[in-house]
Amino acid sequence: MTPGEIDQTVACFLTFTKLSKFKFTHTIKEMLFLLFLAGFIAFLAVFLFADADLLTLYYERFGLKADSLRGKVIWITGASSGIGEYTAYELSKVNCSLILSARRKSELERVASKCRTLGPVDVVVLPLDVTDATSQKNCFDKIIEQFGRIDVLYNNAGRSQQADALKTELKADHDIFDINFIYCISLAKIVLNHMKEIGSGQVAFTSSIAGKLGSPRQAMYCATKHALHGWVAATRFELGETDIILQLLCPGPVVSDIRKCSFTEVSGKEFGGEDPNAKKKMSTERCAKLMVVAVANKIGESWITKQPILLVTYIGQYIPVLFAWMARTLSGKVVQRLRYGKKD
Ligand SMILES: NC(=O)c1ccc[n+]([C@@H]2O[C@H](COP(=O)([O-])OP(=O)(O)OC[C@H]3O[C@@H](n4cnc5c(N)ncnc54)[C@H](OP(=O)(O)O)[C@@H]3O)[C@@H](O)[C@H]2O)c1
Repeated sequence: MTPGEIDQTVACFLTFTKLSKFKFTHTIKEMLFLLFLAGFIAFLAVFLFADADLLTLYYERFGLKADSLRGKVIWITGASSGIGEYTAYELSKVNCSLILSARRKSELERVASKCRTLGPVDVVVLPLDVTDATSQKNCFDKIIEQFGRIDVLYNNAGRSQQADALKTELKADHDIFDINFIYCISLAKIVLNHMKEIGSGQVAFTSSIAGKLGSPRQAMYCATKHALHGWVAATRFELGETDIILQLLCPGPVVSDIRKCSFTEVSGKEFGGEDPNAKKKMSTERCAKLMVVAVANKIGESWITKQPILLVTYIGQYIPVLFAWMARTLSGKVVQRLRYGKKD
């Protein structure tokens, strides 16, 4: 080979490696971009059809199943209808001891009978008006006498509101605050003191997406649920060194009697009527399933709601400035449509 030919070969080789290097890095960049795009599209697809926050959905697929609660002693308040009733059904399938409380004994008996058909569950009916502190203590004593401990308090009893904030009489404001916050906390304190003695336990509160965001014609309801978040956030510090978990479970609109039993502007007057938007809401079964996922996996805060409310909740949590602008700009009627899919 002549020196000229050698030079030519080396030059060819260098050009080839430069070109292939260029192509190689180019291909890697394209592949990374495509991977990112595919990941983003997959994420959007999951989010579009999500009916809970992504952590809760992750635990539903990969986390502990309901049967991890097997053998636990679980006290459910508000168990005579709606979310509490269906959560009792979910738990009945996994052989735990259930104590069902609410005011209507006949409804509790109905729920208990159905629970017994669903699994080998130990169910006790314990009627309770949660706004009666003495009855709370009596019920607690009965449970300890019978079972010796409480592993989980599912503090779920509550009522909603359909009322203009400025027209609501003071007594009506007190009524809703009592049931949804003051006495809910008083029950939690009785049980938490017991849990501190035995060294472990779990108290799950049914809060609401209304405990994260504002919602029209529900000012005091929102206030009671926000209050729960404040109380839990502060009390977690006091329980920091213990094995006791506090949970805030936040459903959006779910099929139940909640609208019918809502408080109004006038104390003692229920809203009544049928729910015209029931079809747009999450089913009670699905909500209860996700509630149990959250309890089994001890999730600190869980949002259980369909779109578009889920998206709005993410905006409220992570871009509060945008949410505040939306709240000012969108009238109550538009928000009602977002919540229920049509004008309420
Ligand atoms: N459904 C929703 O769209 C939704 C959304 C977010 C949050 N939540 C929350 O979910 C929880 C359950 O509501 P739900 O939707 O299942 O409504 P629901 O069907 O009306 O159930 C409410 C339950 O609370 C009980 N209750 C009411 N007042 C009580 C009292 N003074 N003492 C004891 N129990 C009482 C009721 O039983 P008795 O009448 O027999 O006492 C009933 O079992 C509430 O805390 C509510 O704020 C519901």
